[in-house]
Amino acid sequence: MKEIVLNHPLITHKLAILRDKNTGTKEFRELISEISILLCYEATKDAKLHSAEIETPLEKYKTKKLNEDDYAFVPILRAGMSMVEGIIKVIPNAKIGHIGLYRNEETLEPVEYYYKMPENIKKRQVFILDPMLATGGSAIATIDRLKKDGVKNIKFLCVIAAPDGVKAVQSKHPDVQIYCASVDRKLNDVGYILPGLGDAGDRVYGTK
Ligand code: PRP
Ligand code: URA
Repeated sequence: MKEIVLNHPLITHKLAILRDKNTGTKEFRELISEISILLCYEATKDAKLHSAEIETPLEKYKTKKLNEDDYAFVPILRAGMSMVEGIIKVIPNAKIGHIGLYRNEETLEPVEYYYKMPENIKKRQVFILDPMLATGGSAIATIDRLKKDGVKNIKFLCVIAAPDGVKAVQSKHPDVQIYCASVDRKLNDVGYILPGLGDAGDRVYGTK
């Protein structure tokens, strides 16, 4: 499955501000939220709807609805949390699971420190959230872990991806559709995305 890159002037505009090193914490968080909403819009294009009958102020009307409860968002801690605020506005009844991973700065291998999923996770449509897909290690570890729990329907939503990370996820998990706002040029020697936006977690939480 080829990755889906949002190609839209609004995304280009928002990414330009997000990448700028002079953009402060408040605006950075707001932009991640806004881009997450647009990613969710794209990722739900094939969403299943069920028949519903409602009553407008004028008449009865047969329509369709989404079963919001089928969805689970799984942010990869820490930086993935920044995407929840936006996406939960669009599907407010979705459940939220958390996986805590950090990259060992020498090996770049992900290390799991937390894992808690909503009940019946294996039956849900899961959207993994992480603003950065760099080497792909964190994404692959998260998908591996969710599949171990029996999850079958997984999509990966990120803001910026590196070509190596996209390839790694696609070759290990070809069934997982990746949605991103940009595929950047490359990774540098220490696993940062170029041009990228720096360390997403540090910029969201002001830790550096
Ligand atoms: C960042 C980012 C991803 C990961 C991507 O997290 O949010 O989770 O790196 O890199 P990878 O594709 O090479 O695995 P980081 O480990 O810096 O943790 P943080 O969210 O706590 O800052
Ligand atoms: N994680 C980040 O936060 N930024 C990068 O560029 C790569 C991984």
